[in-house]
Amino acid sequence: MAIKANILVVDDEKNIREGLGLALKRDDHILFLAADGIDALRIMKTEEIDLVITDLRMPNMDGDTLMKTILKEYFNIPVIILTGHGTVETAVQAMRDGAYDFLTKPINLEKLSLIVTRAISQRQLIIENRNLQSKIETFGKGKIIGKSEKMSKIYEIVEQVAPTKASVLILGENGVGKELITNMIYQLSKRRDKPFIKVHCAALSESLLESELFGHEKGAFTGAIKTKKGRFELADGGTIFLDEIGEISPQLQVKLLRVLQERCFERVGGEETIQVDLRIITATNRDLKAEIETGKFREDLYYRLNVVQINVPPLRERKDDIPLLISSFLSDFVRENNKIIKEISSKAKVALYNYNWPGNVRELRNVLESAVVLSKNQIIDVDDLPPYIVQEGEENNILRVNMPTTMQEIEKLAIISTLKLTNGKKSKAAELLHLNRKTLHNKIAEYEIKIDGVEDNTD
Ligand SMILES: Nc1ncnc2c1ncn2[C@@H]1O[C@H](COP(=O)(O)OP(=O)(O)OP(=O)(O)O)[C@@H](O)[C@H]1O
Ligand SMILES: [Mg+2]
Repeated sequence: MAIKANILVVDDEKNIREGLGLALKRDDHILFLAADGIDALRIMKTEEIDLVITDLRMPNMDGDTLMKTILKEYFNIPVIILTGHGTVETAVQAMRDGAYDFLTKPINLEKLSLIVTRAISQRQLIIENRNLQSKIETFGKGKIIGKSEKMSKIYEIVEQVAPTKASVLILGENGVGKELITNMIYQLSKRRDKPFIKVHCAALSESLLESELFGHEKGAFTGAIKTKKGRFELADGGTIFLDEIGEISPQLQVKLLRVLQERCFERVGGEETIQVDLRIITATNRDLKAEIETGKFREDLYYRLNVVQINVPPLRERKDDIPLLISSFLSDFVRENNKIIKEISSKAKVALYNYNWPGNVRELRNVLESAVVLSKNQIIDVDDLPPYIVQEGEENNILRVNMPTTMQEIEKLAIISTLKLTNGKKSKAAELLHLNRKTLHNKIAEYEIKIDGVEDNTD
């Protein structure tokens, strides 16, 4: 199948450029003509050229200089050289310099057509390949980091629920990774090749959100100059992610309930009922149960959304993910910013570990990005971190005396300091540490922890 391309023909001889132009137009290409290199580069600034055919000897800027400029400044645009009879050597040199191919004058039009088709399909392949690569990279970038027990449980649920059509409600504080988990569900679902539409419900006013979700008919309200499809319609067959679902108004909650129950709706100002096939994922940082109590969120809607619930714990409750997050974010930012940072000092690591992270992973990520960008040394140290983090870290520092080197040591120290805090009460300590009592008991034995009052305290 012929591919239609934008071709630039450069020759100082009017007859040749126009003759070539006509021949190529017959193959359905779009032609641009230039009389010399300068003229050609000017056209290339404003047009998306796919292929250049150029004469070598021309006034102002010759073909050789033009080709070298194109090879340097543009991504993969093939250049075909035209040479006079008996100058094959120049052509060979041009090929060495990076020309795609050459044609000798007088031009054999059939050969021209063949070479052009081949060059364009190759370019197409290279572009597709590059797009694929960048897609792979973006997907890689969005990967979830964390091997804590709590995150592993989440991955398990995600893997189980992803291939189904069940609605998923994701709960968690700001910045815990709710959106990343949504992406993961989509990627692992059977609908990964179908549309994936995200709507940030808190970002729009009620009426805008309504027409954004359901679409509107022409003339439905002032400014509705034409019929517009809503996000539900655009997501048909695929997945829709309604972020910050806790923010939607009672009226919209009713309309949404109907979509969930019957998978149908009408556009704003419209009468036709539109049926859709949707997978619905929602997320919120609000406590929806409490919102139901106070009458702000409909209970029936909650049960429809909450077929499968994923609770993403705050970072301070899965601190064993912190070291991995640090090293992964660091290497990303070092690469992105071309820095020569080699490591992060253990003091800085401890400060980051001890901090409470109210903004969760997003906050940690931002802190590390700014540390990398601003650091002048090869090692990130406490001076590169915001003072409030270091200060709070020190206040929480259960590890001040002995700088720990392993997670076991950190865990042991965490248990000791918590037991001190609870005056040896194990059930309270277990609660604070988010461990069950038996696990805590085993760890106390394993680490041979002895604190006054712990031994004989049997609670
Ligand atoms: N486990 C993780 N691994 C890697 N990056 C993460 C992880 N969790 C969160 N992030 C990063 O932190 C930032 C916030 O994540 P995300 O947007 O998914 O959080 P959220 O829970 O949707 O937050 P909000 O409620 O504020 O919208 C993003 O830059 C994301 O890439
Ligand atoms: Mg989010």
